[in-house]
Amino acid sequence: MDIRIETASSAQRRTKPADESKLVFGNTFSDHMFRMDYRDQQGWTEAKVVPFQNISLDPAAMVLHYGQGIFEGMKAYRRRDGKINLFRPRQNFERMNRSAQRLCMPTIDVDEHFDILETLLRADHEWIPQSRGSSLYIRPTMIASEAHIGVRPAKEYIYYIITGPVGAYYAEGFNPVSIYVSDEFVRAVRGGVGEAKTMGNYAASLLAAEVAKKKGFTQVLWLDGVERRYIEEVGTMNIFFRIEDTLVTPPLTGSILPGITRDTVLTLAKHWGVKVEERMIDIQECVAGIETGKITEVFGSGTAAVISPVGSICYKDKTYTVRDGSVGELARRLNDEIVGIQYGEKEDVFGWVH
Ligand code: COI
Repeated sequence: MDIRIETASSAQRRTKPADESKLVFGNTFSDHMFRMDYRDQQGWTEAKVVPFQNISLDPAAMVLHYGQGIFEGMKAYRRRDGKINLFRPRQNFERMNRSAQRLCMPTIDVDEHFDILETLLRADHEWIPQSRGSSLYIRPTMIASEAHIGVRPAKEYIYYIITGPVGAYYAEGFNPVSIYVSDEFVRAVRGGVGEAKTMGNYAASLLAAEVAKKKGFTQVLWLDGVERRYIEEVGTMNIFFRIEDTLVTPPLTGSILPGITRDTVLTLAKHWGVKVEERMIDIQECVAGIETGKITEVFGSGTAAVISPVGSICYKDKTYTVRDGSVGELARRLNDEIVGIQYGEKEDVFGWVH
């Protein structure tokens, strides 16, 4: 793939974080970005790495009206030997294409996608943090840019990637978070777009998250959209329960995002000989299991936070504390293993590192 590179001038260079240990998630961006444009007859054109800059859009750009927009989230990790690791990047590229197909948007050749990302990361390699626990967050984004007000798939798109150094996603770090079960709002329904990484899914989640925050909880536990009974996700993450000797997570039935960390957790747990089940979990089973001590661990999984232990769940005004609110051993082991593989410190048995 032919990618033009325009290096940022010294005036265009951005200020690097002075202290990596104080990085917050999502407000620092690197010097460069990738961009290419799609037109119906021509396909993707004008691939380029350019200084980080604004994007100009027609006010009638279709993404601004009908929400034809998708994204991915991935990270680059600096190893002790200075080399850079990506974790299962092919999975992100393939999921981006599935999201694109769901929203009638163009796909990107997976091998070309590797070229694109490697070219961008070479330009901004100095932005990949040195310290363990921090990484370079990568945000591939596709938007419908055609100026048109009728409802139909756009004929023009912009694809871009921005990156930026990040620390922990939650202020709590690896400490258990408190979650609030929303039985009023739902995130997605089967047949909808819940399994695609569309911008609108996150917009749809905001109000419930604000309600939860006002009540003093960190995140929302999402129930299914039909019966408000079966557990689907937590915040922006997939969810896992350790029920006696089995690790259980809801099955991918269409309304749940097929998380790459979710798949990683399932694969590692099976590899370790832990019994694993993908099945529906009733909220009543969940709270009863926490009360009786059958459920000994609850945690979320995602790219941003990796493993995020859940300390308590509030359902219908009653709070259920998981174990004694402390981090469970399986959550800790999974987090250590995944982070260890990502930073190149643990053996990569499954060939996940690129
Ligand atoms: C994740 O990686 O867990 C996410 O989806 C969070 C991201 C939207 C910031």
